[in-house]
Amino acid sequence: MNIVIFGAGAIGSLFGGILAKNANVVLIGRKNHVEQIKKKGLRIKGKTNAVVDISAFECVEDVLFSPDLVIISVKSYDTENAVNEIKKILGKNTYVMSLQNGLDNIEKIKKVVDKKRLFVCITTHGSVFSKPGVIIHTGIGKTKIGSIEKNIFVEHKFVDLFNKSGIKTNVSNDIMYDIWAKGVVNSSINPLTCFFKCKNGYILKNPILEKLMEQVCYESVSGAKACGFNLVYEDALDLTKEVIYDTSDNFSSMLQSIQNGCKTEIDSINGYIAKTGKKFGVDVSLNEILVYIVSNLC
Ligand SMILES: NC(=O)c1ccc[n+]([C@@H]2O[C@H](COP(=O)([O-])OP(=O)(O)OC[C@H]3O[C@@H](n4cnc5c(N)ncnc54)[C@H](OP(=O)(O)O)[C@@H]3O)[C@@H](O)[C@H]2O)c1
Repeated sequence: MNIVIFGAGAIGSLFGGILAKNANVVLIGRKNHVEQIKKKGLRIKGKTNAVVDISAFECVEDVLFSPDLVIISVKSYDTENAVNEIKKILGKNTYVMSLQNGLDNIEKIKKVVDKKRLFVCITTHGSVFSKPGVIIHTGIGKTKIGSIEKNIFVEHKFVDLFNKSGIKTNVSNDIMYDIWAKGVVNSSINPLTCFFKCKNGYILKNPILEKLMEQVCYESVSGAKACGFNLVYEDALDLTKEVIYDTSDNFSSMLQSIQNGCKTEIDSINGYIAKTGKKFGVDVSLNEILVYIVSNLC
């Protein structure tokens, strides 16, 4: 299988490096990373230890085959740009998979990619970009793949490839629901850790912060329901608390972005909940406040 990973940063490089065992993978990334990969291979440290001999380029024009699969792994604020780039290499048999967080990526990708050819991959694996050419696999997690359109069963082919390569993966029967379930969790944890500059675990150690997290979670579930995703508040809260316990010693990706002076994905998570919730008359005032605060921290 010929695979292009568009956005070879932390997670894209990890998945690309692992999938390269069983597929012909090309990474598209930034100059310094590409140069180091060309010189020394992609080095993966942490939970996976490998030096992977893999092709890497700075732009899609250098890809010399028509890909079977393009995996988009840029941050959600770069999705539109990524889609404009990948459309140059989409053949009539190419599938596209979003390996991203955020609630608005599919809307953006669907403008260019037929939804019958569009998949989403949700993962709880953790990866950090250490330096050009080197990424750290920080946590082994679970992965799900699902198609946007019902009754499309091509995802089994990708699930098999992921499993064969060592990324434990299941098929999702309702990936849009899963995206929202993860989005609600992220909306309830990430911005609060930015405001309080704390590790995830602190949210459950401070009763005021815990109450605030519960209220954001309630509001985000209401937003999800208004958009047609029947999430149950108690389940969403349990899942949020489970994620906080499991990642209590971690800084959230949103806080890491702020610490690194980068943009965050707040607009695609709380921003999207606020925008769509408001449209349906849901009270999304906490999400709006969090968007305002985090946007002003960047
Ligand atoms: N890291 C994780 O553990 C993890 C886990 C699950 C899900 N996710 C999700 O996966 C997505 C990617 O996260 P990440 O942590 O991997 O982000 P990341 O490290 O920033 O990776 C994205 C990479 O794509 C590059 N890029 C953007 N536009 C490009 C272009 N036009 N050409 C070439 N390269 C381009 C970025 O470069 P610049 O930074 O220079 O723009 C960056 O190196 C996010 O939605 C995130 O929430 C991440």
